Amino acid sequence: MNLSLTQGLNREMKSSPLGKMSSDPSICCIGAGYVGGPTMAVIARQCPGCQVTVTDVNGDRIAAWNSDELPVYEPGLAEVVSAARGRNLHFTTDIDAAIRGADIIFISVNTPTKQYGVGAGKQADLKFVELSARRIAEAADRDKIVVEKSTLPVKTAEAIGRVLAANTRGHRFQVLSNPEFLAEGTAVRDLLDPDRVLIGGERTPEGERAVARLADVYAQWVPRERILTTSVWSSELSKLAANAILAQRISSINSISAICEATGADIEEVARAVGMDSRIGSKFLKASVGFGGSCFQKDILNLVYLCETFGLREVAEYWEGVVEMNRMQRRRFAARVMRSLFNTAAGKRIAVLGFAFKKDTNDTRESAAIYVCNDLLAEEAQLALYDPRVTAEAIANTLNAGAGSFEVCASPYAAAEGAHAVLVLTEWDEFRGLDFERIYRSMKKPASLFDGRNILDLRALKRLGFEVHGIGRTIETS
Ligand code: UDX
Ligand code: UDX
Repeated sequence: MNLSLTQGLNREMKSSPLGKMSSDPSICCIGAGYVGGPTMAVIARQCPGCQVTVTDVNGDRIAAWNSDELPVYEPGLAEVVSAARGRNLHFTTDIDAAIRGADIIFISVNTPTKQYGVGAGKQADLKFVELSARRIAEAADRDKIVVEKSTLPVKTAEAIGRVLAANTRGHRFQVLSNPEFLAEGTAVRDLLDPDRVLIGGERTPEGERAVARLADVYAQWVPRERILTTSVWSSELSKLAANAILAQRISSINSISAICEATGADIEEVARAVGMDSRIGSKFLKASVGFGGSCFQKDILNLVYLCETFGLREVAEYWEGVVEMNRMQRRRFAARVMRSLFNTAAGKRIAVLGFAFKKDTNDTRESAAIYVCNDLLAEEAQLALYDPRVTAEAIANTLNAGAGSFEVCASPYAAAEGAHAVLVLTEWDEFRGLDFERIYRSMKKPASLFDGRNILDLRALKRLGFEVHGIGRTIETS
């Protein structure tokens, strides 16, 4: 159909979402993961007039979304899904039908760091994004708006547009960038009350209409002044920049934590003093065993690759330093554990409390726990792990036992029984209220306690008899 968009449109018009200005669009999302699932559930709940269909190549995942055991753990998500599922929220493996039925198609598939060929270890692997674009071009029965939701390197929207244009069967597509800023563990809250929604589109009349169409969806619950519209490239780069700058703050405070440990200063006091400067602000200054998650490292490496591609060597090195500092923080933590064990972990039981990359999620991607555990397993330790949400299977998939061993326990107490050291690697709230007296009694002596998240009262634990170690804090003899 001709996209001279303003003429003769009626509200029932199904043939061009690029032109339809008022009625609620139908939406589909390719990829039912940590981003696609919660995002679509919230859109469906907030926009009862939109039919929202989420598809995935993984049939088990779709079955789980249709069950009471959702594949993603997020506080509040089960309630949002049950409010909308079956009404205007649907999960299906029939990707082609979902594409055909949709005016707006989100692509939210995973984009892992490429492990082969040129750019290995840094560049994002876009094969799933490209496959999705080809599938859209083949299945589409009318013009569509395609929205990149996955975090992608700058200029990916252009590539998606080229794949669509080269494979179209006469239909036209507008590609928008609409990066996701939700953080896992607070996804529902972040989606319901976002700091901003960013939509990048082509600076053409058609592009602007597509941007407006998507903005109208969000405007059903997000104040208009928080919906930012930019060019596609600004939008794509903003997502990488936001994650790089957040991660940079963590690496900055973690680098200072190393100085604190060397000098006896306390990182919590330093972070508080620094963060009270209103120019700096207090968020994302929590020293830790290291940042994890599917985005920070991957996005920075994307940025590094982009800089190298454009010959910006110093800029690339600057950002690479953020990732290197994070690696150092994880290694340093494992090395401190080794020192407390008199540099031999072989055959020693070590309890690991928390395996998710942060609290309130069952996601382990790039979790600092993986690296710390693998360093200790390389020293032939016997790990006893407990996490309230991560499955034993997910833990086993990430660890290399080598000559060491690991077991997954049903409670923190079972993990700590007979251990030489307890390591807190995720800041789950339940760890704050543990009966540490009981834990101390059940452990080998000397009993070391490493708080990789600075959530425990180390002075009180020291009084119980533990040798205590925080991040960037030294409690007397520790
Ligand atoms: C992913 C990316 O990791 C992140 O960078 C981006 O911002 C959003 O998408 P996430 O939702 O956390 O984040 O990924 P994941 O939980 O792995 O979900 C992706 C889903 O896409 C998986 O369920 C996978 O089966 C599905 N998929 C993948 C498809 O449906 N089709 C494909 O071709 C490839
Ligand atoms: C991040 C971004 O926050 C989000 O906007 C984007 O959409 C996806 O990437 P996420 O990775 O889900 O979200 O969680 P986030 O809260 O940012 O935490 C990332 C890692 O940093 C976690 O391992 C967390 O424990 C760690 N962290 C965070 C710290 O170590 N210290 C802090 O002060 C904050």
